[in-house]
Amino acid sequence: MTNSLKVAVIGAGVSGLTVARELQRESHQVVVFEKSQRLGGTWVYDPRVEPDQLGSDPNRDVVHGSLHKSLRTNLPRQLMSFTDFKFDEKIYDDPRINPGHEEVLKFLEDFATHFKLTELIRFNTVVTRVEVVDSVITSFVVESETNGVSSVEVFDAVVVCNGHNTQPRIATDIPGIETWSGKQMHSHNYRDSEPFRDQIVVVIGNGPSAIDIPREIAMVAKEVHMSSRSPRSKLGKLEKFDNMWQHSKILKIESDGTMIFQDGFSLKADIILHCTGYKLHFPFLRTNGIVSIHDKRIKHLYKHVFPPQLAPNLSFVGIPEESFTFSIIECQSRWIAQALSQKVSLPSKEEMLFDVEQYYQEIKEKEVPEHRTHYIGFQTSYIEWIFNQTGMVLEQHVKEMCEYFPHCLMTYGVDGYMDAFSQKYGI
Ligand SMILES: Cc1cc2nc3c(=O)[nH]c(=O)nc-3n(C[C@H](O)[C@H](O)[C@H](O)COP(=O)(O)OP(=O)(O)OC[C@H]3O[C@@H](n4cnc5c(N)ncnc54)[C@H](O)[C@@H]3O)c2cc1C
Ligand SMILES: *[C@@H]1O[C@H](CO)[C@@H](O)[C@H](O)[C@H]1NC(C)=O
Repeated sequence: MTNSLKVAVIGAGVSGLTVARELQRESHQVVVFEKSQRLGGTWVYDPRVEPDQLGSDPNRDVVHGSLHKSLRTNLPRQLMSFTDFKFDEKIYDDPRINPGHEEVLKFLEDFATHFKLTELIRFNTVVTRVEVVDSVITSFVVESETNGVSSVEVFDAVVVCNGHNTQPRIATDIPGIETWSGKQMHSHNYRDSEPFRDQIVVVIGNGPSAIDIPREIAMVAKEVHMSSRSPRSKLGKLEKFDNMWQHSKILKIESDGTMIFQDGFSLKADIILHCTGYKLHFPFLRTNGIVSIHDKRIKHLYKHVFPPQLAPNLSFVGIPEESFTFSIIECQSRWIAQALSQKVSLPSKEEMLFDVEQYYQEIKEKEVPEHRTHYIGFQTSYIEWIFNQTGMVLEQHVKEMCEYFPHCLMTYGVDGYMDAFSQKYGI
């Protein structure tokens, strides 16, 4: 017998859409709350930038999107697909293997239409409060606001899908940066290279946005100096560019504006661009301390999905980053939907807590910093483990592509991996 619950989903990006689809498959009653007027989340390009370009003012008008105008996917479309709805079988306007962002949005709109998800979404409705009613009989109060009118409803379960690429995380440990008089921007507010024309630019970070954005800036800037604290970065001038260098971390900025790098290099720059990633932010969650965040770690989140005390009724989708996001979101969504209908059972609260503690111990031994807790990288064992909970397997040819992809990245580097991948799997 299935157990049909009333479930609130917060956000209509890839995560919210996918979980809505899986919940519907399990005959739950689903309401998706979406603060904007359209679905797609991250993949809705927003040309606006925030007035505070570092995003440090908590009262600023927040722009959700972080895409730049020319962004192309950094994964091939085959690896941005769902098991039964494949991006490589749906070409709209842009046939490239790693298409522009517009193509991804079309794919998501198509997905929502195909599985009749749009009718589940309440647009222009922001969730302002999710509160655990009682720690024993759990149901959740969900308060939301549509055009200034607020309403309160009770749900059996809540799935949090509000995204985590909106609140800038900034390098603050550089002595002298607070008083430095140059311009600073976070990649969240980068749309195109125009503000960087003829400038001497320093780019801090080594995540995905620190790959394509500096390459675009280098076309118009005088010089681009990248700074990374990763010991793995190869220092020196970049082979294919005349005006781009990789340096170590910035040690300090002196009062005359000179930046001193750890490797001894120094310069005076016009702009610092922070490509340092994002913070987790759940301003609506009130759980009496059950869910807490510290330095990008959601404490005790079993398999990056369930807080043990409230499982399976409260869950998070899409928390792991820099990975095969679509597949992760799909397996997590299916697992949540089936846990709620009691088709699959979760371990006891104690066992889940123990599992998370063990995981923390493991990553500590590997010297993984706390803010990388939810980083799982380009591997498939996590996806396979979760799929397995619901009796599914990762298709063999998808698994092969998932294994070939990091191989291309390692062998051919960021300037050659996509070509190498498409030589084998081109469409
Ligand atoms: C610059 C950039 C490039 C990327 N490139 C790739 C790529 O090439 N390939 C890849 O697979 N992944 C990529 N990603 C990862 C990307 O985050 C995922 O593909 C995916 O978009 C995550 O979806 P999501 O639903 O979890 O979050 P989002 O897409 O952020 O969606 C969250 C939704 O929740 C809504 N929302 C937020 N708060 C509330 C609230 N309180 N009430 C109601 N609604 C709310 C928002 O309006 C939004 O619609 C990229 C991310 C970024 C930032
Ligand atoms: C989850 O919700 C269901 C249905 O409302 C309820 O029976 C169950 O006790 C809840 N689980 C927990 C751990 O609170």
